[in-house]
Amino acid sequence: MTTSPVDVWAGPLTTPDHAAYMARQTPVLTAQHMSVVYQVTPPVEAVRDVSLVLNRGEILGLAGESGCGKTTLAYAINRLLKPPALLTSGEATLHDHSGEDIDITALSGDHLRAFRWDKISMVFQGAMNALNPVISVRAQLFDVFTTHRPDMGRAEKEQAAKDLLTLVGVDPDRLGSFAHELSGGMRQRVMIAMALALRPQVMIMDEPTTALDVVVQRGILREIMRLRERFNFAVIFITHDLPLLLEISDRIAVMREGRIVEVNTAKNIFEHPQHAYTKKLLSSFPSLLGETGGFVRTGDEDLNPSSPDTDDPMGGIR
Ligand SMILES: Nc1ncnc2c1ncn2[C@@H]1O[C@H](COP(=O)(O)OP(=O)(O)OP(=O)(O)O)[C@@H](O)[C@H]1O
Ligand SMILES: [Mg+2]
Repeated sequence: MTTSPVDVWAGPLTTPDHAAYMARQTPVLTAQHMSVVYQVTPPVEAVRDVSLVLNRGEILGLAGESGCGKTTLAYAINRLLKPPALLTSGEATLHDHSGEDIDITALSGDHLRAFRWDKISMVFQGAMNALNPVISVRAQLFDVFTTHRPDMGRAEKEQAAKDLLTLVGVDPDRLGSFAHELSGGMRQRVMIAMALALRPQVMIMDEPTTALDVVVQRGILREIMRLRERFNFAVIFITHDLPLLLEISDRIAVMREGRIVEVNTAKNIFEHPQHAYTKKLLSSFPSLLGETGGFVRTGDEDLNPSSPDTDDPMGGIR
């Protein structure tokens, strides 16, 4: 009988300096041994025994090729799975800033509705096309407040909605606009405003900028970084765009066939990848042979990612 590396799985690869990094952090979300099966014929084991810690205020990149289970894992954490998807094992816990630990997997009914969006919000994959076409931006933001903050008066909601648009770089005059009157970038900014509305402790962003052109994408990413600094929410940032993750993430988890095969600081993932699959992913982006990290964090537009003069930070790994 042959055993594939997946069969002899012993937990994600990491390094001692990653352990040291984790020891300095405070967790906001913990996922333990989560498995999700799509109950179709034959069944699809989309997420397999995933454990993950997200620290307060950190950006955790979740990388991996299409179909590896990123969105399914995000849904499992936020209790958004619908049949035929079934969580077959594991749990997720939010370590609330009040000090209370909330077992997300045990929530139901009103407790679950009150929890979602308030503690963990999500920018859905393809969200930019998910704004309701027949109601205005204002009405959609008001809906969030009406559901979760029933004590807010109309004037208070109006002010909060204006403030949110300003925060994400959209003119508050746009509150009366409908989705079709906004550019793709603006629609995505509005979705981020909705996700920020209740000041969640965790935001899950599933390919939030993939459909946008590079300039718009970078503007939005800088906004997210700035907002994160200001409000200290943590982000699980999902994308198959590894170069992008290397620029924006504190840590990166690499997912393959439903499992997290490696998790480490972005620097270590880049400079000292441990898992063969991580090395393969890195080598599939030739532009990674130069410097990274300057663009989004510092706004250095002139950064030349493939300058022949730079040392080889890949350590010869191709
Ligand atoms: N409703 C469904 N029924 C059956 N299988 C599904 C269903 N939704 C997803 N899957 C399968 O589950 C696996 C994980 O899918 P998922 O959408 O989580 O991947 P992903 O990493 O988010 O991919 P992408 O990068 O393309 O968004 C894939 O094999 C997919 O085909
Ligand atoms: Mg997905």
